[in-house]
Amino acid sequence: MVAPLKVGIAGLGTVGAEVVRLIEAQGNVLASRCGRGVRVAAVTARAKAKKRGLDLRGVVWAASPQALAADPDIDCFVELIGGAGEPALSAIETALKAGKSVVTANKALIARHGVRLAVLAERHGGALNFEAAVGAAIPIVKVLREGLAGTRINRVYGILNGTCNYILTRMEQERLSFAECLKDAQRLGYAEADPSFDVDGHDTAQKLAILASLAFGTKLAEKAVFVEGISSIMPEDLQAAEDLGYRVKLLGVALRTETGIEQRVHPTMVPRSSSIAQVMDVTNAVTVDGQGIAPITLIGPGAGGAATASAVVADIADVARGVRALPLGQPAARLVATQQAPMRRHEGGYYIRLMARDMPGTAAAIARRLAEQNISIESIVQRRRNGAGGTTPARGAPSMPVILITYATSEDAVRRAMQAVKRDRVIAGRAQLIRIEKN
Ligand code: HSE
Repeated sequence: MVAPLKVGIAGLGTVGAEVVRLIEAQGNVLASRCGRGVRVAAVTARAKAKKRGLDLRGVVWAASPQALAADPDIDCFVELIGGAGEPALSAIETALKAGKSVVTANKALIARHGVRLAVLAERHGGALNFEAAVGAAIPIVKVLREGLAGTRINRVYGILNGTCNYILTRMEQERLSFAECLKDAQRLGYAEADPSFDVDGHDTAQKLAILASLAFGTKLAEKAVFVEGISSIMPEDLQAAEDLGYRVKLLGVALRTETGIEQRVHPTMVPRSSSIAQVMDVTNAVTVDGQGIAPITLIGPGAGGAATASAVVADIADVARGVRALPLGQPAARLVATQQAPMRRHEGGYYIRLMARDMPGTAAAIARRLAEQNISIESIVQRRRNGAGGTTPARGAPSMPVILITYATSEDAVRRAMQAVKRDRVIAGRAQLIRIEKN
């Protein structure tokens, strides 16, 4: 009989506590699926006395994550502390150097130090599993790392942040303000400790960097991701999107182009009829476009204790079975440096919302500036003035929203046209630009 896998868990927050519960509840199933039992042998957390509703009798309390990682009685070190730096980083390094397998849900750490940690895992023979770092319960890491090992991938994109999707959903459906929806997302435990990390797009960028490395065999490069968050999205954008047959989603997109790998995170107009537009609330979705096969889409819960614990326990199960994939899908030494595709060369349609001065010649001036950049307009909607905030203090003339949808053009052309329109002083404030992703 094979001895049970002895697991040490560092961090007993929402996810850590849920992992302990799940291993307990699924004990028999895990033993049957893995061919051996899985046992929580030791834990460590900042507040030992905190009430967690867990039965930890017989479980050793380690003095620190480091001590737990170094404990020779532990086979698998599970890091659920979070944060891109200490103490998580050193503890993982200690565990890997001791030849232990490591399971982590820490996207920030993998996005920043993934290559270095993968080298250590490969050198010392342990596994480094991080399924929960992207899309929580959605097994997208496994799909890219193993399931599609023989497929050339051209694009990976999706909704990778539950908090943003929840906020956009509620703003659209209940006509609530951004601030109200964010508060609810925090209350429900979806948002990061610093929610600006979610709403400014950085959480999505880290997840995208991980997916891009697995999909394209590139070194993890969070800094190569163009990032724009959702805080500038106004209820009127969501209304206009609805009127024009679109919905706004925060997408992460990694794309193979002739000039390199384009990696971008930004609010995106997606056709209302598309499957990604149907993904609401905290749900995440990831689509993989592989050569010669139809796109594969995985949809599921992307945040929350139970969803994240589901992926963590699946990773532990792989360790128990003795499955050890290369952490980044191929030897870390063979990953190539990311050649970042410049965002100004990005091609696609654009939604443009302008506060246009309500006077003769304004529409003609806007149209002329777009035409100068060879930008073709698919549709144009001029809204009635609603009174609030619709004036240009500089000139005193009232202004009204004008919404344009362009055919595919380049980011460079749109930016140049908007600069010219601004110089013409026919608009108030900044133009709102939202990129469109058609399929
Ligand atoms: N804050 C993250 C989200 C949690 O909202 O998706 C999961 O990474």
